Amino acid sequence: MTGDNSNRLTLTTEQIAFFKDNGYLVLRDVLDRNLCAQARDRMWDSLPEGSRLKRDDLETHYAPFPDHETSDDPLYIRRNERWHLREASTEQFLIDLIYSPDLCNVAEQLLGEGLLQPPVPDGEPMGSRGPAWPGGPTDPAIGDGVRGFYWTLPDRSKTSNVDTAHTDGHPFNLGVIGVLNDVPEDGGAFTVWPGSHRRLYPTFQLQYDQPRIPYYDHMPSLKGIINPPEYDAELKAIKEDTDAVVCHGKEGDVVLWHHRLAHMAGNNNSDIIRQVVLNDFNRKDLDTCRLDPPQTNMWRDWSSEVNDTAVSYSVEFARDQGITSKVD
Ligand SMILES: [Fe+2]
Repeated sequence: MTGDNSNRLTLTTEQIAFFKDNGYLVLRDVLDRNLCAQARDRMWDSLPEGSRLKRDDLETHYAPFPDHETSDDPLYIRRNERWHLREASTEQFLIDLIYSPDLCNVAEQLLGEGLLQPPVPDGEPMGSRGPAWPGGPTDPAIGDGVRGFYWTLPDRSKTSNVDTAHTDGHPFNLGVIGVLNDVPEDGGAFTVWPGSHRRLYPTFQLQYDQPRIPYYDHMPSLKGIINPPEYDAELKAIKEDTDAVVCHGKEGDVVLWHHRLAHMAGNNNSDIIRQVVLNDFNRKDLDTCRLDPPQTNMWRDWSSEVNDTAVSYSVEFARDQGITSKVD
């Protein structure tokens, strides 16, 4: 960022210490409320005419989307409980919302000053080139903007969380989730496994990428991201020995998260649509850094402030971040 940063949001040493140790950090009341409202309007306006979902009628907000409203277009996904919109990901208002001066200041504090790769207004939205492989997910690394809207409808057919814990397979540095509405604890906002980034980072062949198997029509049984056995074993151990934290919150809150953190969206067992927007903060030198294997110092590509911060924070701070079981 350039210009006067003195009034911008700045992390405390304790917040940085918590992020280093746990791989995530919840920040309250960060997003511009007018832009949050604009974002919600944009999402609702994107529904097809005559949609079963009526904004003012909560009883219509439940999954699944009816068949005739279902879409697998990566720019606009409506299927079962998932409602994603990526065609807006290079629109200026959305960039202003989730690539704001405050969030950029925080991201620069973590990743290094002057190193952020900015989104391109009116550029190519994520998902424009289709899924990463036939029937596969969209690659969030292809596109000029932010990741876009990831909403989840309440699902009355499910009573518990389906385990979809994972790390993201595309190269990026720092994730951020912006909460656009008040999401209750059972609303599926964002589930994380604290400390998993430190345990999973060394299990990969490369610092940022996860290798992919090509897709062949005549040999379809092996395709897409392939995980090292060390990763699978460590993720299994993490899920057994670490209590997950369900990050939830109010309109305007954000969650920052490390690129190797185990996470999942979680099932929405509430009565309210989970309304969030996602973005990746990337360093300009990511293409160079991604050539390297995991480093002895896993914070090599982070700021000197992060590197110099000792991992020390209070029990009260950890509790405020949702950790109740692990108190050192
Ligand atoms: Fe993910």
